[in-house]
Amino acid sequence: MKSYRIALIPGDGIGPDVVAAAWQVAEAVAAKERFALEGTGFPWSCDHYLETGTMMPDDGIETLRGFDAILLGAVGWPASVPDSVSLHGLLLPIRKAFVQYANVRPHRLLPGVEGPLKKDGFDILCIRENTEGEYSGAGGRVHAGAPNEVAVETAIFTRAGVERILRFAFEKARERSGRLASVTKSNAQKHSMVFWDEITRELAAEYPDVAVTSYHIDAMAARMVMAPETLDVVVASNLFGDILTDLGAAIQGGLGFAASANIDPTRAGPSMFEPVHGSAPDIIGQGIANPLAAIWSAAMMLEHLGETGAASRIMRAMEHATANGIGIRPGEHRTGAFTEAVLNAIERE
Ligand code: IPM
Ligand code: MN
Repeated sequence: MKSYRIALIPGDGIGPDVVAAAWQVAEAVAAKERFALEGTGFPWSCDHYLETGTMMPDDGIETLRGFDAILLGAVGWPASVPDSVSLHGLLLPIRKAFVQYANVRPHRLLPGVEGPLKKDGFDILCIRENTEGEYSGAGGRVHAGAPNEVAVETAIFTRAGVERILRFAFEKARERSGRLASVTKSNAQKHSMVFWDEITRELAAEYPDVAVTSYHIDAMAARMVMAPETLDVVVASNLFGDILTDLGAAIQGGLGFAASANIDPTRAGPSMFEPVHGSAPDIIGQGIANPLAAIWSAAMMLEHLGETGAASRIMRAMEHATANGIGIRPGEHRTGAFTEAVLNAIERE
């Protein structure tokens, strides 16, 4: 029997609740499809930081390297650990160390979910560059506290980095409708984004079957609200993609519906799957966290591992639950109730 080793990092806040739910669902479909999941939990989190002084041990990355995938809940508890410490101590190092350069986020309405646009019929796959660009971390500050204090944050775009994310997006567009939107801002950023556009055009020549259109980020933000049904695969730099995927989450009903995959397409190391919503301190301990995005992320994980049948079972079961009105309004159903509905749908199918 095929078996996969999964690192489970529940993390902070509602992370443990939603990872537990997603894991139950993943195990249920594994049993149906006859493969095994071997989960190993890691307590790395802000609590761990308060106890030990680090978000994860020094050999954390090496420990994770042996796994087939990582399922993560949420990182961050700003009341006790600054985000700049927690995120740079756990989430971001994993994305960078394992070169998870493609952050993939699907934005569509599940049946029964009514988004703020009051319109249906869009199905967007956002692909965000995840390792460089505006979030490279290059920069510094001088003259601290003085009137002439300076902060510099340098966006770094490498040919290798831009080419690989665009290529990944072209491939996805080819698998889907053959339409790709490349997000730019070359009218204002005359170095990095002109470079991005040039590489988009170079690759377009290699993919004659993909119709690619470039949109400036501001125009894309408007389009995602006014005409999301005109979009299919959307590819963007780290910062632009970060912002657009929160917009994508909003139009699909809210952050509680947003799943994501941090993928290393070369498969040299494990990829990581996580809901976008974060630790949600406002609802902690109430048992009302919606595990939908974590369960969807687990489906993306199984798909990445090649278990497409299991991934589809999860999606069908979730869609069955939401179509019956379960898990579609924030706070209305308990975490366990939604999970039960999904498990029942998997069982009954
Ligand atoms: C996300 C988050 C993170 C990011 C933060 C928490 C660093 O906003 O996954 O979109 O920007 O990558
Ligand atoms: Mn974000």
